[in-house]
Amino acid sequence: MLKWLFNVLQLINHGMTPSFLDEVREVTKQFFALPMEEKQKYSRDAESADGIEGYGNDKILSEKQILNGTERLHITLNPEQRKLKFWPENPKVFRDILNDYTIKLSMVIEIILTAIARSLDLEDNCFLDQYGKEGKMNAGFNYYPKCPRPDLVIGIEEHTDAAAITFLLQDNEVEGLQFQKDNQWFKVPIIPEALLVIVGDQAEIMSNGIFKSPVHRVVTNSERERISLAVFCLPGFNEEIGPIDRLVDESRPRLYKKVKNYVSIYLEYFKQRKRPIEAVKI
Ligand code: OGA
Ligand code: NI
Repeated sequence: MLKWLFNVLQLINHGMTPSFLDEVREVTKQFFALPMEEKQKYSRDAESADGIEGYGNDKILSEKQILNGTERLHITLNPEQRKLKFWPENPKVFRDILNDYTIKLSMVIEIILTAIARSLDLEDNCFLDQYGKEGKMNAGFNYYPKCPRPDLVIGIEEHTDAAAITFLLQDNEVEGLQFQKDNQWFKVPIIPEALLVIVGDQAEIMSNGIFKSPVHRVVTNSERERISLAVFCLPGFNEEIGPIDRLVDESRPRLYKKVKNYVSIYLEYFKQRKRPIEAVKI
């Protein structure tokens, strides 16, 4: 029955040219290279719905990370939910390029969600229906400065993603991302024309554990800074998600409860340093 199972894969036939992906990387680098006062125009504020949108560092997720110097910019990509005050106007082409990237990725997410349904011999729409019409794409731009003691300082500590699927555009020169398998860490090689597709907790839940949300982290580098852009594809917050009925039977009992707004549970558990998906296990 299972033809195409993955936890993470390098996708190359996504319809975006290598030069377009380089432009996305370039505006990311240019933004983080701006003077601090300029970047702070887009700072997070108390008003933003989940307190995460905007520019800042990692403190919000975990106290352990205050020393690492990582900078982030989080913005919602869906046109109807955009808060333009968090969308950089500098570099000039930032908004246009990000808008193009949004349009292209919204096609790719549909294709991926359809493909994983087919790979399980399910109806095409069963993952898409749970993702919903209000499925959200949240962009997380990351900047990891070079760090004199990479042995002591982690870029992002180990975690799984809250999304259904994450698309990660990696730096085209500097490695840093690692995935855990059998208690060992494996580096992700750089393939400049590829998008990394990562299964997130919500795809694990919907697939009743057939897909697994892999643990990953980012290590720092003493010589070079690194950027990345993660786009988290999240089911609409009013959408109830849960294991697809046809994936529950006697040989595979239901492993997860139905849940709405998994992201808020995720953030709570993450702060307490617990694995978020434990919150919805039966
Ligand atoms: C993330 C993440 C990896 C990277 O933002 O969730 O895992 O390479 N990023 O920056
Ligand atoms: Ni991640």
